[in-house]
Amino acid sequence: MRVLGIETSCDETGLAIVDSETGLIGHVLYSQIALHEIYGGVVPELASRDHIKKITLLLEQLFVQTGLTKADLDGVVYTRGPGLVGALMTGALFGRALAMGLGIPALGVHHLEGHLLSPLMKVDGQAPEISTPFVALLVSGGHTQLVAVRALGAYELIGESIDDAAGECFDKCAKMLGLPYPGGPQVAKLAQSGNPKAYDLPRPLLHKGADFSFSGLKSAVRRVVEAEGADKLNHADLCASLQAAIVEVLVKKSLKALKAVDLDTLVIAGGVSANTELRAQLEAELSRIGGQVFYAPTEFCTDNGAMIAHAGLLRLMAGQSDGLNISTTPRWPLSELEPIDATAH
Ligand code: KG4
Ligand code: ZN
Repeated sequence: MRVLGIETSCDETGLAIVDSETGLIGHVLYSQIALHEIYGGVVPELASRDHIKKITLLLEQLFVQTGLTKADLDGVVYTRGPGLVGALMTGALFGRALAMGLGIPALGVHHLEGHLLSPLMKVDGQAPEISTPFVALLVSGGHTQLVAVRALGAYELIGESIDDAAGECFDKCAKMLGLPYPGGPQVAKLAQSGNPKAYDLPRPLLHKGADFSFSGLKSAVRRVVEAEGADKLNHADLCASLQAAIVEVLVKKSLKALKAVDLDTLVIAGGVSANTELRAQLEAELSRIGGQVFYAPTEFCTDNGAMIAHAGLLRLMAGQSDGLNISTTPRWPLSELEPIDATAH
């Protein structure tokens, strides 16, 4: 089965085709970062309009890249939520209409399920051996969640951020330093030459429960910036200290979650899972307890069409599909999803 996946939940227009046998066939991605940069964040209306402008062209590009045509598709899947409602609507309308014209099934995919299952995707003919149950750490710009994955599609929330997401904390602190959006990769780059112990930053809720909180850390960074001046302070040291604080919280909470559910396999996904310090520390900790950590290739950690195509393919193969109605779900808890019954096909 060959499926086209469409991601338009925020500021990336991503399209990809995956095959149930060979895995990822091709993908294209257009980022609107430059469009939103002068506003210091994503402007929802501009995002929707830009998705509309680019999506047809990107599909043409994808067909040229893969040598495939519309007739080669067996299904179309698109991000149904969570995300910006207008942006979601563009991908949903485009995908649903295309599937209807071709007489093939369509399905709305949960964006976070796309992230969560992206490390399992077959890329260049290779897929890692990951089997359920495992714990997933979802760390994106909008979400920070620890999820127990009992079976594919069966998600139990262990803990989540009660305020800012980890990626949001990276982004907002980077903005205070005058760094461009998205701030995570910028902070990570500067952190390489900084001293992680230079600033004594808080690790909120480190030993308290399974939830996260990053807004206090953001405020602590703001106080440092205000006291020392964004131009005068040592950016590398502050970035290294910030990264160390976020990574320590993510690592310790992940280990605690694994212990609580008695598992030793961790999957990390979402934009922040591209962070090399986070990966290195988790690898060291997991190997210490005889466990394993998995993550997607870096280009598939941030938003992309391939992860949506992959998650949607699994659901279509299990016999699931949506009707002709077009619905988006801007707020959608992962735990509300139906399990993916792999035995159904
Ligand atoms: O998953 P994603 O593309 O978008 C959402 O669904 O939110 O994640 C984007 C987030 C941004 O906050 C970005 O700063 C962060 O991922 N990010 C990173 C790195 N690369 C992207 N954070 C830390 N280190 C990185 N290397
Ligand atoms: Zn995302």
